[in-house]
Amino acid sequence: MVDFNLDDFVQQLRIAARESEPVKKVRDLMNAAFEDPQAIKDAMPAFENDDEVIFEDDSVSIWFVRFMPGLHVPPHDHQTTATIGVYEGAEDNHFYLREGGQLVHKTSKRVGPGDVIALKPEGIHSVEAANGSQSCGIHVYLDRLTTIERSLFDWETGAARPFTDENYDLMKRSTA
Ligand SMILES: [Fe+2]
Repeated sequence: MVDFNLDDFVQQLRIAARESEPVKKVRDLMNAAFEDPQAIKDAMPAFENDDEVIFEDDSVSIWFVRFMPGLHVPPHDHQTTATIGVYEGAEDNHFYLREGGQLVHKTSKRVGPGDVIALKPEGIHSVEAANGSQSCGIHVYLDRLTTIERSLFDWETGAARPFTDENYDLMKRSTA
């Protein structure tokens, strides 16, 4: 049993993000915290929205992210390292490469309670809730995500479009 306190965790992540080797330090903190996903679940506030910024500055963005059944979030990049931990339910992450002008699905990974994964800045994924249940996680980005110019990618052609709310709504897929 590891005590989890969100405010303390945010402070630890803020420090880690400004140290040398921030990718490794953030990953180590996430790995340690997510050894006890139930402790995180018990400590997290009830978030109203499916995406909420818990903290962000120029070096780190910390988000609560919930995926609901029936929605497949379109392929996108982050233009910074993304470290994802899940404490409730599971996310199905699908990974792609752009090859020959197309988006090619390479692999998929189910990220369940206690699991942590990291994507490189150029990594492309689409995400959906697994098993017909919502998933809840903490996503950490090593930059101010809300101001990064990043892309959504056409499911078929792989063509990049600016990551805007409008494009997101056009490209999201219903799986219900
Ligand atoms: Fe993402």
